[in-house]
Amino acid sequence: MAQFLPYRLCYLATRIAVICKLMPLMGMAISELHWPSVAQYMVVQDVVMSYPKPRSQAMLAELSRYVIAEPKPFVVDLAQSRGIWLATVDGDRLMDWCGLYGARLLGYNHPRLYEADYLRHLALAANNKMANPDFLTAECLDYYRLLHELAPKCMAGQPVEVYVVNSGAEAVENMLKYFINLHHQKLQEQGKQVATRRFIYFEQAFHGRTVFTLNITRLANDPLATRDYQGIIPDNLQVPFPAWEHGGSAVENERRVDESLAQLEALMQRYPDEIAGVVLEPMQGAGGHRIAAPRFYQALSALCHRYQISWGLDEVQTAGGQCGQVFAIDRFDIPYPPQAIACAKKFGNGVLYMQRSMQDVGVLDSTWGGTLADMVRFVQEWRIVRDEQLLAAVADKEAHLVRGLEQLVEQWPDKLYNVRGWGLYQGFSLRQAEQKGCLLTMALEDEDLLLLGAGSQSIRFRPPLDVTLAEIDQLLAKLARLFPRL
Ligand SMILES: Cc1ncc(COP(=O)(O)O)c(C=O)c1O
Repeated sequence: MAQFLPYRLCYLATRIAVICKLMPLMGMAISELHWPSVAQYMVVQDVVMSYPKPRSQAMLAELSRYVIAEPKPFVVDLAQSRGIWLATVDGDRLMDWCGLYGARLLGYNHPRLYEADYLRHLALAANNKMANPDFLTAECLDYYRLLHELAPKCMAGQPVEVYVVNSGAEAVENMLKYFINLHHQKLQEQGKQVATRRFIYFEQAFHGRTVFTLNITRLANDPLATRDYQGIIPDNLQVPFPAWEHGGSAVENERRVDESLAQLEALMQRYPDEIAGVVLEPMQGAGGHRIAAPRFYQALSALCHRYQISWGLDEVQTAGGQCGQVFAIDRFDIPYPPQAIACAKKFGNGVLYMQRSMQDVGVLDSTWGGTLADMVRFVQEWRIVRDEQLLAAVADKEAHLVRGLEQLVEQWPDKLYNVRGWGLYQGFSLRQAEQKGCLLTMALEDEDLLLLGAGSQSIRFRPPLDVTLAEIDQLLAKLARLFPRL
């Protein structure tokens, strides 16, 4: 019961209409990675929270007897969910711009996911979860073939190998293993001993929650995530991420790029035989929905090439098409390819793309090597993406969404600013950190709108690829009603 306390507290507290004066007292010592916790619910002026509603409340109460968790304050009714609309067991329909944290490729229950032939394959794969690395099936081969077809354009022209695991963190973790192996190989070829191994990572990076990935993750807004784990794998090096601010000073934007590149190069010169790799998200997600100027990615690739250091992208959140390309890095025309790209989420499994094979076969291995049912579903989903030409449609939808968000900035410059992103993965910053929790709560309560926070004061949109222009208009209309009250 103790675990369920936040929602009960929230429910009670908001029922007695909390006064806005409490805001500074209760504000922002709260981690806000995914959803506002109780204090953030409580600070919302005039909003009487109706969540969780009775059926959800009973189910959440039962859950709290089994696990310590803080799920959303509703229970999903999968069968009733359609497209971007998430249904709850209490009969609500929520417009889902959170997209399971960037994990949804398409909206819920696309009709073509009910075709008889596909369902037969899916049932077979789901009923017979296979140890894929050692027991090949035609279904698994279809997935690998598709992965090759979708391979990052920046890695084209050379043999690319894929390795499939289960989660995003595992994909990144295996990228690090791969880089360590390449690093050893390089030093051995030069007749050198392997000493310290370091990874360069970026401020506000989020790479997952395995122990190794936590050692290249650092979120100022969620210090608890890494607190007990940072430093277990020592000697990694953090550099600033040159977050580009739309509408900010051009000089400052350029200065941030130069500073980050200068620090990167200084480290490469200082530790010539110690850096096993550079790892970054092309668009930071949990760290604040931050992007950098194309020049940065281009110069980073050139630096790594010059110093013969492996670099890799964590595209766990960005890969899948919403950024306008299957892989976000392909927007930037980089001069030298990365050695690896990790992706997951919308791909159904964790996937690692590698430039050349490791010499040591068997170092990367696991029992399942991904889930066969997810492979079968992803192949069908990608058929839909192709048939409905959803990738080609991103540019128009992007323009529409950005135009609408910019209009909101013009109307409410004291509330939101810095609209940024690529493709459908757009977002903005709020002027005050405490507005973030308020907006998330009011959106759910009053507009049936599910939004996703990022960093300390940003909102990021993670819609499915088949979101329509009309649904973008609906989002904008909902936001336009919310901002005057924020
Ligand atoms: C950029 C990035 N890397 C890695 C991960 C970890 O992925 P998973 O939760 O599938 O382990 C996430 C998850 O949100 C992510 O956004």
